[in-house]
Amino acid sequence: MPVFRSSDIGLDLGTSMVLCYIRKKGIVLREPSVVAIERGTGKLVAVGSEAKEMLGRASDDLIVMRPLQDGVISSFDATERMLGQYFGRIVGNRIFFKPRCVIAVPSGATEVEKRAVIETSEGAGARYTYLIEEPLAAAIGAGVDIFSAKGSMVLDIGAGTADMVVTSLGKAVVSDSIRVGGDKFDAAIVRYFKRQHGIVIGTRAAEELKIAFGSAYPRKDAPMMDVKGRSLGGGLPLALQLDSNELTYALSEPLHDIVEHLKDTLEQTPPELCGDITENGICITGGSAQLYGLDKFISEQTGVPCYIAEDPVACVAIGAGKVLEDIKLYDGVLYDYRRGDYYEG
Ligand SMILES: Nc1ncnc2c1ncn2[C@@H]1O[C@H](COP(=O)(O)OP(=O)(O)OP(=O)(O)O)[C@@H](O)[C@H]1O
Ligand SMILES: [Mg+2]
Repeated sequence: MPVFRSSDIGLDLGTSMVLCYIRKKGIVLREPSVVAIERGTGKLVAVGSEAKEMLGRASDDLIVMRPLQDGVISSFDATERMLGQYFGRIVGNRIFFKPRCVIAVPSGATEVEKRAVIETSEGAGARYTYLIEEPLAAAIGAGVDIFSAKGSMVLDIGAGTADMVVTSLGKAVVSDSIRVGGDKFDAAIVRYFKRQHGIVIGTRAAEELKIAFGSAYPRKDAPMMDVKGRSLGGGLPLALQLDSNELTYALSEPLHDIVEHLKDTLEQTPPELCGDITENGICITGGSAQLYGLDKFISEQTGVPCYIAEDPVACVAIGAGKVLEDIKLYDGVLYDYRRGDYYEG
């Protein structure tokens, strides 16, 4: 029977951030999912925040990349090396104490994508890897009582995916996952400015504008913002002062995509549980939950009250970690891929 040790890791292997939770210590690592590799030699130059600083600024002999896209691993080797570095920081080089891992994966991940997560984590030094559905981990981390007979709903919007789940009696009753999140928000902003104002900006600049001025609905008090890039025609540097409410128009398409899936999920939910959700509200987690006015927007669109979890970015890692801390309680949500069944203590 597997016994979980103190060095075991609850891991949120996200498209934009990796968070690690250690039993009884809580979150011990929060780093961007970015690696910098030397072209030609393949030498790992930097990972995490150090590598993120180099994104878009590196010279030709450096490859700076995000090894996960849309919630799943796109570069196997880079993810393994990044995780290897993070595991090393957490457990050191104690080869006899290889950690066991609980890793959250989007509920829409394919079998191949799930297997890639397991192989990558074990290649990076984990002894054994269990998987948990990302929105279930988010629910546990947000403090939602998933064991209650009453229905609860959680929506996790990260950088790559929006995952949603309705829980009751410790199970995911209905869940859905779409490849829309903060990255698609940034891309929508880039497209909007190009089309409407003939200005080309980078995705990092778009993300900064979104975080500083973005809103899910138009605001009366919207400030003006400086948008810097280059002109579409001549390619020369261009700076414009624009109403920040324009970001709301730019974001409307990806936001409506999420709302449509949320409505479909609610439609598939048994009526009693729907009643409970209307009473308790939808809990929103993930970094993109911090978009100004998102709770109000989703509530207006669905007619169901919404609230943002405390520390929304950390919920998935906290949830994966809580599962490690009380493995018996959560055995029904922990998937043991090799056995092809849920964990049995
Ligand atoms: N204040 C903010 N307003 C809007 N978006 C924000 C804010 N702060 C962070 N974000 C966005 O949150 C996203 C990162 O969220 P998170 O760390 O939950 O993603 P992730 O877990 O790595 O991704 P995924 O779960 O999709 O794999 C980024 O797209 C970032 O731009
Ligand atoms: Mg996430």
